[in-house]
Amino acid sequence: MDGPSGSGKSSASRGVARALSLRYLDTGAMYRAVTWWMLQRDVDLADPSAIAALADEPALAMSTDPDAPGVTVDGTDVTGPIRGQDVTGAVSAVSAVPEVRRRLVALQREIIAESLPGGGIVVEGRDIGTVVAPDAAVKIYLTASAEARAQRRTAELDGTTVEAQKADMARRDRLDSTRKADPLTPAADAIELDTTPLTLDDVIAEVLRLVKERA
Ligand code: DC
Repeated sequence: MDGPSGSGKSSASRGVARALSLRYLDTGAMYRAVTWWMLQRDVDLADPSAIAALADEPALAMSTDPDAPGVTVDGTDVTGPIRGQDVTGAVSAVSAVPEVRRRLVALQREIIAESLPGGGIVVEGRDIGTVVAPDAAVKIYLTASAEARAQRRTAELDGTTVEAQKADMARRDRLDSTRKADPLTPAADAIELDTTPLTLDDVIAEVLRLVKERA
């Protein structure tokens, strides 16, 4: 499940994983956790070579329970802290570095391989259908209007406005879509779903229908 922030990926992915008794992996949380770790160490995030030199250092552990997703770095639970403004503001710089992506894509593939004997996994991110799991049984690319995405994000966060969220999302979309390494783009065989007019239950029902049809 790929798409920009605010497209409804996280809630839909978790809902689908629950309905089908599958595991769930939030790959954005992995990029955020590495970013949190780099910020703790005062790494100069304007210097891609400084980020690249440390890309293999943080030890990540992911929970793939759709009812209790989480991430620890070097044993510290950072599930809450990775949603902070500091991490959100810095994650595009870290996720653009090829060495970081190489490491996290390898980890993501390991987690996917481990889940297959148990039935499989719903994985959400930006490059899942194109890079991480090109052989996925079903690929969904979620979109929504800029207004709808900003409204959803504003409802989740305290102390922000729709206008501020719109500007921040436009900035991150631009960085995520124009970076050289694995930019956000739909896979050729992904099914695109515009969630603007849909409720979360509608989105989950539609994805479950597509899974039944395709898988
Ligand atoms: O989904 P999110 O907002 O938590 O993702 C955080 C950042 O990580 C986002 O700006 C882009 C990046 N990301 C990525 O480059 N590749 C992924 N598979 C997932 C997220």
